[in-house]
Amino acid sequence: MSAEKIKAPRGTFDVLGEQEARRASLETCAREILESAGYERIETPAFEATELFARGVGGSTDIVQKEMYTLTDGSGRSLTLRPEGTAPVCRAYVEHGMHKRPAPVKLWYLSSFFRYERAQAGRYRQFWQVGAEALGSDDPALDAESIALLAELLSQMGVSDVRLRISSLGTREARLRYRELLQGHLRSRQDELSDDVRGRIEMNPLRAFDSDHEGTRTVMQSAPRLLDHLDRGDLEHFAEVRSLLDLAGVAYDVDATLVRGLDYYTRTVFEFTSDALGAQSGVGGGGRYDGLVAELGGPATPGMGWAAGIERILLASESRPENEARLDLFIAVGDTTDRAARGLAFATVTAARAAGLTAQMELAGRSLKGQLGYANKLGARYVATMAAAECVLKDMRSGAEQTLASHAVVASVRDALGAGK
Ligand code: HAM
Repeated sequence: MSAEKIKAPRGTFDVLGEQEARRASLETCAREILESAGYERIETPAFEATELFARGVGGSTDIVQKEMYTLTDGSGRSLTLRPEGTAPVCRAYVEHGMHKRPAPVKLWYLSSFFRYERAQAGRYRQFWQVGAEALGSDDPALDAESIALLAELLSQMGVSDVRLRISSLGTREARLRYRELLQGHLRSRQDELSDDVRGRIEMNPLRAFDSDHEGTRTVMQSAPRLLDHLDRGDLEHFAEVRSLLDLAGVAYDVDATLVRGLDYYTRTVFEFTSDALGAQSGVGGGGRYDGLVAELGGPATPGMGWAAGIERILLASESRPENEARLDLFIAVGDTTDRAARGLAFATVTAARAAGLTAQMELAGRSLKGQLGYANKLGARYVATMAAAECVLKDMRSGAEQTLASHAVVASVRDALGAGK
């Protein structure tokens, strides 16, 4: 009787070869774009004190209320697998005294995050985000630059049907005044709302804008809009962000109903969606969080950033065919029982790699025909078939063959592939 198979937990996935290649090219692209704008890579721990997210992300959010993987460790501390990256980056900023560095301090990350969400296509319980955070400046040019960098990343990755929505939430004070206004509107039409929204009037009235419930949507059509209740300073800030985005040629729609699922935002908020995705259309989003560092015990420090889902970027972009052969040289063995030929193949594959070629040899006892088929599948540019002292080298693109001494194979392939190798 065979043992029962163990599967990966629901909502998680393994990253296998072909996907890994696309993920690696996304990482390279993100690194180039962000580092050319002065962002430095940061990695924070996979788990943090639960308090960091309770305080940073906000007690009334779905993330804190029902999506955190929280555990108690051996010494009774409450720890949480990070559901997002902004609070940890701000924690690190405070912990390492980064406010002493010249502002803005620009940090980027590519890490995995954990949320106990309903798993479906594009929504996982462990997922990866690339993110960028800039701390220490409230200049609207930073908002526009940050948004433009994500627009560039999505464009270079070939994400299709991208739409950008932006809005401003103003300062906390303006939002608090507006909250009361909105609560008044919701209370006056309580009976038309969904149970869920009615239950959240006191805690999180803004989420009503997110509802799919028909009655709620009707009520929200005539609800007061935060954008009409911002302070003068916030309005000027938002106008400047928009005019800089216009200058940079980044297209956007202003959406006064844009709600983000995290509590730390102030002023600018934005979200990129792709129609190529189904229900989970959010590819990336972010905004300003001018109160978060102080909330976490640091000096008053404005901040601005975003995060984008790696899996969603890849789902929404075309897989580009590799046009370069991935393998320079495959070394086949004419007779796999011939120990001398196998020894030569081994020495040659090792020498080929030392010479900077990508090379593989036969390791599964296939027939010669099987080996050639396998080499083809690997996209080998050259195949060398080893026999005692000499070998046949085949150019897989032209089909041309030559017989040469086995010790000359590596130099011959290197020369043929040019000085680049
Ligand atoms: P967020 O909107 O919660 O923001 O997540 C950002 C992106 O992560 C989403 O647009 C989506 O692409 C991806 N994502 C979120 N949840 C999942 C999931 N369960 N499965 C797959 N992908 C997912 C934040 O996390 C903020 N920290 C962004 C930010 C940075 N704001 C300021 N700085």
